[in-house]
Amino acid sequence: MESLLAFHHIGIACHDISKSSQFFTLMGYEASPVTDDPIQHVRICFLEKEGAPRLELLEPLDEQSPVARTLATSGVTPYHICYEVTDITAAIAALRSQRFLLVSGPVPACAMGNKQVAFMFQKNTGLIELVEVPR
Ligand code: NI
Repeated sequence: MESLLAFHHIGIACHDISKSSQFFTLMGYEASPVTDDPIQHVRICFLEKEGAPRLELLEPLDEQSPVARTLATSGVTPYHICYEVTDITAAIAALRSQRFLLVSGPVPACAMGNKQVAFMFQKNTGLIELVEVPR
């Protein structure tokens, strides 16, 4: 399992990327251009800083967005951890064997160069995103 998953980012639900990115840019993070992903119903901005975990701010594009539900129940909050995998089908099977359920995907993610992404949930761990980066 350990060799299968490499940390990629922490996803943070927010109401407004321009407001939520302010603190992090003050902290020295560099913000990517903002991208809309109509498949996931989210607007996305990545925040990167040398030596710090990569962050992803997600703002809902509409009420159907899963991020809108997270904001309604928890407000602005980290809500998923994303891991990079070389084979998303194999990673999904491995997480299924750890009692994770496939929530969505695999689908292409336009904010990540159309790489395949999937979301999986297990009640003792929470929400995990997988992004496939073939070697
Ligand atoms: Ni993510």
